[in-house]
Amino acid sequence: MHPTIHLSPDTIPVAPTLSMFDPVFVGIDEFGAPVYLDLVYHNLLDAGEPGGGKSVLIQNLVAHAFLCHDFTPVLLDPKWVELGMWMEPADALGGIFVGPDIEGGLRVLRRLQKVMDRRYAWLVAHGRRKFLPTDLIKVIGVFIDELAYYTATTGTPEQQKEFIALVRDLVARGRACAMPVIAATQRPSVDIIPTSLRDLFGYRAAFRCTTPNSSDIILGHGWASAGFNAQTISPTTPGVFYLIAEGGIPHLVKAAYLSDEQIHQLVDYVTWTHRSGQRDSVPLAA
Ligand SMILES: Nc1ncnc2c1ncn2[C@@H]1O[C@H](COP(=O)(O)OP(=O)(O)OP(=O)(O)O)[C@@H](O)[C@H]1O
Ligand SMILES: [Mg+2]
Repeated sequence: MHPTIHLSPDTIPVAPTLSMFDPVFVGIDEFGAPVYLDLVYHNLLDAGEPGGGKSVLIQNLVAHAFLCHDFTPVLLDPKWVELGMWMEPADALGGIFVGPDIEGGLRVLRRLQKVMDRRYAWLVAHGRRKFLPTDLIKVIGVFIDELAYYTATTGTPEQQKEFIALVRDLVARGRACAMPVIAATQRPSVDIIPTSLRDLFGYRAAFRCTTPNSSDIILGHGWASAGFNAQTISPTTPGVFYLIAEGGIPHLVKAAYLSDEQIHQLVDYVTWTHRSGQRDSVPLAA
């Protein structure tokens, strides 16, 4: 009898080596220098008018995350077409995808709140204040493409209120316990992003806006009159946005772009490298 190994006969999968603690490449600034985000310890608000490039930016972040060995995905996308592409690998990684279903979204957020409480209990018990890469903990990345759908469009006022409260709690407390939130919205109005919620997002990306006021709602009051106004971004250059990071001044960035084909290739790759129970058993020696 021959011993067996569990490998596909003709190829050997190369496991992803990126970590969620690594800097995430998002594009280039106006001087051509690469721009990276530190996703684990920051939440990102991604806002601006339709067609500005919000989902393209989210795809860059999601693609990085799926190539990491320490990522658990939570994807909410009422339009299906953006994050829905990652549904299969999300399943393979033990994560979840929610479509246009506010009750489903609420269930997931309530569960995340419990996970967050447990993670904090662990940190307290170990005399720690945040997770580090050496903890080998899974980073639960919560990606919401079109926040307004859940907070202002669908469901009852009670459901919407609960959704906002849960997102606020996650945004306020999730950072240190490796549960960052990345949320996009077309309508940067105060009813969707109350100032108190906006200020909890350490990173804010303002894509083209229709008014200086909308731009200020994303970046912070006063930036438009100081010359950082997302209304001035040309509609012919989608993907350009003002990025403000905690404490800094906004700067212009052009997001990297993944084509549908590239995303499908990444989805296939990630699904394949995380597949379980489907590998052929081949004899070690004939
Ligand atoms: N960084 C980029 N580089 C090149 N093209 C881009 C970039 N970002 C966006 N585009 C172009 O703009 C289109 C719209 O982008 P995207 O779907 O991200 O907009 P959005 O802000 O998510 O819009 P909506 O609010 O309707 O969802 C893309 O299909 C693409 O053609
Ligand atoms: Mg979009």
